[in-house]
Amino acid sequence: MNTRIRKAVLPVAGLGVRFLPATKASPKEMMPIVDKPLVQYAAEEAVSAGIKDLIFITGRTKRSISDHFDKAYELEAELEKGSKCELLQIVRNILPPEVTCIYIRQAEPLGLGHAVLRARPVVGREPFAVLLADDLIENGNVGCIKQMIEMFEAHQCSVLAVEPVPLEDTSKYGIVETERIADRLSRVVRIVEKPKPEEAPSTLALWGDIF
Ligand code: UTP
Repeated sequence: MNTRIRKAVLPVAGLGVRFLPATKASPKEMMPIVDKPLVQYAAEEAVSAGIKDLIFITGRTKRSISDHFDKAYELEAELEKGSKCELLQIVRNILPPEVTCIYIRQAEPLGLGHAVLRARPVVGREPFAVLLADDLIENGNVGCIKQMIEMFEAHQCSVLAVEPVPLEDTSKYGIVETERIADRLSRVVRIVEKPKPEEAPSTLALWGDIF
């Protein structure tokens, strides 16, 4: 089996109802944090971990995501005409040229698992990363996906990232029950979807990145 992770799936086809009305006509993954849309942070994190193929699972109303990663001829021409070199470089280098973006439509938003399964014809039997572009993960120097790839290479099994959440918030997340193996590494025994605080097996919630 090929054990190098070269492909990442980014499901971006959800309805984003929790962010209405902001997400009525524009995708939640395009919401800006300072000067970049959320989805660009996720793409950059994947690329900095050595991922070469970004597989976006998109849906209706998500065209701005593919436009964002495409060449913008008119904008580039205007910036060139105005000698706005710095901005031109930013617009031209949204992603490095060796990275390929692949778009697969999820015809109906039937959930995250269904979205990830849409990538099967492209991913085949290779191990792959999943990044949820609507979560922004701040990790200091080494990105979360890079750390997870290192874990995958060492242990050759699926890896989930988790994050401690307040006990009163467990009903908003998937919560894991774990057995500790080493510092910052545990085996997942079970996952409980949105448990009440008194039924939660821990306060560790599944976070944005999954393999
Ligand atoms: P979420 O559950 O956070 O997104 O899924 P959502 O469904 O858009 O949220 P609400 O509940 O309506 O507010 C995490 C990621 O999975 C994608 C979303 O776009 C988001 O980036 N997703 C979710 C899909 O691609 N397809 C789906 O059917 C559901």
